[in-house]
Order: sequence, then structure tokens, then C-alpha cells
Amino acid sequence: MPKLRLLTAALTLTATVAVAHQGVSNPAVMARMNAMSAISANVKTLGTMAKGQVAFDRMVARAVAASIADHATRSIDLFEAPETDPKSEALPAIWDNYADFAAKSEDMARVAQSLAGSIETLADVQAGMEPLGQTCAACHKLYRE
Ligand code: HEC
Repeated sequence: MPKLRLLTAALTLTATVAVAHQGVSNPAVMARMNAMSAISANVKTLGTMAKGQVAFDRMVARAVAASIADHATRSIDLFEAPETDPKSEALPAIWDNYADFAAKSEDMARVAQSLAGSIETLADVQAGMEPLGQTCAACHKLYRE
């Protein structure tokens, strides 16, 4: 049951990174960090598939891409209030340019959703990694320490 194993691995990874946020005292900051960590765990799962470290599976790849889109869509609200925490890497520029920040989140959701609907082959996963990664970088370079 490789699909189940892969999904279990992705979930385990999410749980592991969530524990790394123990020093965060503001629950609103914790929630948005956890959302980012879940997105990141999904991207890592696609990355291991792209590199051939786990077998390509069209349905798993599509489900993981859909999960990124879902987290992206649901997590944008977690960033709306200017919540802070000593452990946060969020830059104040987010709340000076919130419309741009939200647009960058929508870019991530759109690229991930398009992958979720179009992946047919391993080559599609491999080709999708760079455009997806660019949506992360476009936001992080402006809005994350
Ligand atoms: C719309 C902007 C935006 C996009 C798009 C975005 N991020 Fe982030 N990300 C942030 C911000 C802001 C933080 C810092 C949050 C904080 O520390 O309060 C962050 C933090 C993170 C973290 C650290 C979470 C932690 O443990 O504290 C990871 C990992 C991460 N992002 C991965 C990704 C990946 C992978 C993508 C692309 C698939 C992505 N992000 C796309 C804004 C974004």
C-alpha cells in the first residue's frame, strides 16, 4: 500500500515540524507557522517524488498538490491580524502591503491547484516544482526574515 505509506509519511512530517514550534507563545502566530509547516511538508513530499526517492503515484501527487492549495487558501486569514511573537519570522511589511501579500498567497494556491488538476506523469511533478517554489520565494523574500 504505497499510497497509504506516503500519505502517512507526509502526516508524520507535519506532526514533527509542529513540535518544533513549542517556544511560540502567541497561538495566532503558532497557527500560521503550523499552516506554513504543513505546506512545506507537502512540498517536500512532492520533492522526494520528483527526485525518484519515492515511487511516482499520480493520485498521491495530485492529492498532495491539492492539499497545498487548500492550506494556502485557508491560511491567508491567519495572517490578516498583525500578530507578533519573539519567534516569528513574519516581517511588518505584511501589514503595510496586505493586498500584495494576499495576492502572493493566491499565486501559490493557483499554481498548486493547477498541478492538482494536471499531473499525469513524473515529468509533470518535476516540471511543477520550480514554478511552485517560485511562489514561496516571491513571498518569503519580501515578507519573511
Ligand atoms: C503569501 C506569502 C507566503 C507564501 C506564498 C509562502 N510563505 Fe512560507 N511563510 C510566510 C511567512 C510570512 C512566514 C513567517 C511566519 C511567522 O514566522 O510568523 C513563513 C514561514 C514559512 C516556514 C517556517 C514555518 C515555521 O516553522 O515557523 C516554512 C517552512 C515556509 N514558510 C514554507 C513555505 C513554502 C514551502 C511555501 C511555498 C509552497 C511558502 N512557504 C509560501 C509567507 C509565505
